[in-house]
Amino acid sequence: MPAIRKAVFPVAGLGTRFLPATKAMPKELLPIIDKPIIQYAVEEAIDAGIETLIFVTGRNKRAIEDHFDANLELEWALLEKGKQEARDMIRNIVPSRVECLFVRQPEQLGLGHAVLCARRAVGDEPFAVLLADDLMHQDSGTPTGDLIEAYSRTGKSALCVAEVAASEVNKYGIVSPRSALSDNTWDVAGLVEKPTQEAAPSQLASFGRYVFAPEVFDILEKTQPGAGNEIQLADAIDVLAARGDVVANRLKGIRYDCGDKLGYVKAVVHAALRSDPIGSELDMFLREFGYQRSEAA
Ligand code: G1P
Repeated sequence: MPAIRKAVFPVAGLGTRFLPATKAMPKELLPIIDKPIIQYAVEEAIDAGIETLIFVTGRNKRAIEDHFDANLELEWALLEKGKQEARDMIRNIVPSRVECLFVRQPEQLGLGHAVLCARRAVGDEPFAVLLADDLMHQDSGTPTGDLIEAYSRTGKSALCVAEVAASEVNKYGIVSPRSALSDNTWDVAGLVEKPTQEAAPSQLASFGRYVFAPEVFDILEKTQPGAGNEIQLADAIDVLAARGDVVANRLKGIRYDCGDKLGYVKAVVHAALRSDPIGSELDMFLREFGYQRSEAA
């Protein structure tokens, strides 16, 4: 089985839900305290062994390139001020063995189209896709690492899934499971993008982590605009699944939807409660409002 060395990050979205904050700044750089949202997904990919990061960008996204590039002036300034630790931290955001490539998505034609824009950079090999809006936290391993493991085991494209409330199925790609392979893995028969509650084949939602066999590109080339008049990644996955070439893995941790204001605030609070030294003081502050730490920490 070929190793999975490349990951695609579709980051061309406009981030209209966070205006005016995202008028001049990419939504992917909104901070979770002091680390931008996109950096969590990048660190997850690197932890999972990815060596090439392919960002599919659009207008107004130059700051993402700058974030993952060296900033020698800042490094020198930090060294001069004796801030060695901060210098090392910004210098090593991406280790030197990892390469960053930037591909433009000229028009917002959908998530499937964004992934297709990375075709040449990926080439004929399996690859991961990470949607930065979905911020994942799990105690051991990573969702991307788990999908790579599933791909290596089965040779099939792999999705990260979890149950959602019936009232929420219209926000996600919903899996039609063919059969359960274990308590936490399914053979997938199909995927429906944002169905109504009545049309949903299950309550298993696909979250923003994927591993694909390269054949998904041939399917995406032929995929017509679907839900929202966009070329949907879910529609290409549906074709792969009908061929029996998709498995789904249950997410082992927590997922925050940072594309949504409430999800973003929850991710910030969660990260703050877990970080030293602000976690315990934030805990005390929240208790003043009657909050119990066990509910969120
Ligand atoms: C995208 C995908 C959808 C998936 C979701 C996960 O939708 O199209 O299939 O369930 O991400 O977050 P979006 O949230 O970009 O509308």
